[in-house]
Amino acid sequence: MSQKEETKMEKIISLSKRRGFVYQGSEIYGGLGGTWDYGPLGVALKNNIKDLWRKKFVSSRTDMYEVDAAILMNSKVWEASGHVAGFSDPLVECGKCHHRFRTDQLEDTKKCPDCGGNLGESRQFNMMFETQIGAMEDSSATVYLRPETAQGVFVNFKNVVDSFHPKLPFGIAQIGKAFRNEITPRDFIFRVREFEQMEIEYFIRPEDWEKYFIYFKDVVTEFVEELGLDMNLVHEIEIGDGDRAHYSKRTIDFEFEYPFGQKELFGLAYRGSFDLDNHKLEYIDEEMKEKIVPHVIEPSMGVDRMLLALLLSAYKEDLPAQSGEQNNETRSYLAFKPNVAPVICAVSPLVKNKPELVDQARIVYGMLKAEFGRVMWDDNGNIGKRYRRQDEIGTPWCVVVDYDTLTDECVTIRDRDTGVQERIKKSEIIDYIKEKLA
Ligand code: GAP
Repeated sequence: MSQKEETKMEKIISLSKRRGFVYQGSEIYGGLGGTWDYGPLGVALKNNIKDLWRKKFVSSRTDMYEVDAAILMNSKVWEASGHVAGFSDPLVECGKCHHRFRTDQLEDTKKCPDCGGNLGESRQFNMMFETQIGAMEDSSATVYLRPETAQGVFVNFKNVVDSFHPKLPFGIAQIGKAFRNEITPRDFIFRVREFEQMEIEYFIRPEDWEKYFIYFKDVVTEFVEELGLDMNLVHEIEIGDGDRAHYSKRTIDFEFEYPFGQKELFGLAYRGSFDLDNHKLEYIDEEMKEKIVPHVIEPSMGVDRMLLALLLSAYKEDLPAQSGEQNNETRSYLAFKPNVAPVICAVSPLVKNKPELVDQARIVYGMLKAEFGRVMWDDNGNIGKRYRRQDEIGTPWCVVVDYDTLTDECVTIRDRDTGVQERIKKSEIIDYIKEKLA
């Protein structure tokens, strides 16, 4: 990791904490490895990612059905899916300091990278979190926290078919938490033990798989472009035989150039009939009068990784001259597209101790809040400080009510990226913002 890149990651982590995007999980008790808590702005950003995903892949389409399955599922699901037998990573433990490592992430598999002690034999470590259900403490009570949302879709395949009679091709989508007991959680929210997935299982006739694989490759690419990811940092990697997950016949990983290396952001897999076969599920094609086991194309995205890639793509620094504002500080800002920005616009009175300005600003705030929802009231510190704060959280526009507003009915609206300020009529702000959002 270069010095410059390391600094960028540190800046993102500290901005996330300072401004209320992401906090360390259980922080006041020293934290809990691989867990992070989302603050108000992180929640807003995650919701925007999930809402845009839902709009693109579910609500704007006629062939998608969304489910919300229980996180705890009968263990037979995970036996049938192959996760009990095969969802594992290779693990080695140091005989001296007892630190554990993923064997495939070590350069030297004999020597401990922490203390130099001897590493033991590599063994497979199952990554599913196990717990007990009810009062019984025997093996029949063992359940797992789901390591992927996909199985919640497969077990509801028959339910959805029976309720809605969809014709092939159709998809079942799910957004929800997944849990993996990662051996080495690392890199902020990149590899964590509790995360959220947005997954689609798209059911097709077997002969159509290549067509729909390419189709989804294009649609997921379109989606991340619409979110505003820097596409120069996104790369499609074909995963070779032997490196794919146990269920996949073809996989493309979409990798992102994180400061800590180019790594997976999300994936697209052709799961064949692996899951429906294992769960003994089939589909009756009424028109063709035949029973078939549909094949599956699966675009699978992690919300947390997407959020990290968005923060990294959006993070910018510029000099005062470039931002069009006269002071000597370098400013940092998140150049989010307005559709993902946690706050679309902030409203302030020029000063907070003049009731007539505050009253006017409250009216403008109420009006914008009712229209856009993601609107923040900000009267802390001087106006320059407010601009900096809103820049740092990626708010595209700041609206300021000043003394002139009381006579000319106009407000100042400032653009985050250029620093340019315009005077516009109060009655025109909503249309102004709507036009920019379109
Ligand atoms: N159903 C297929 C499946 O779960 P995966 O590649 O194991 O495939 C899908 O996971 C996505 O979930 C990944 O591309 C990534 O975005 C996210 N993901 C997986 N493990 C993660 C972890 N430990 N921390 C954060 N995100 C993770």
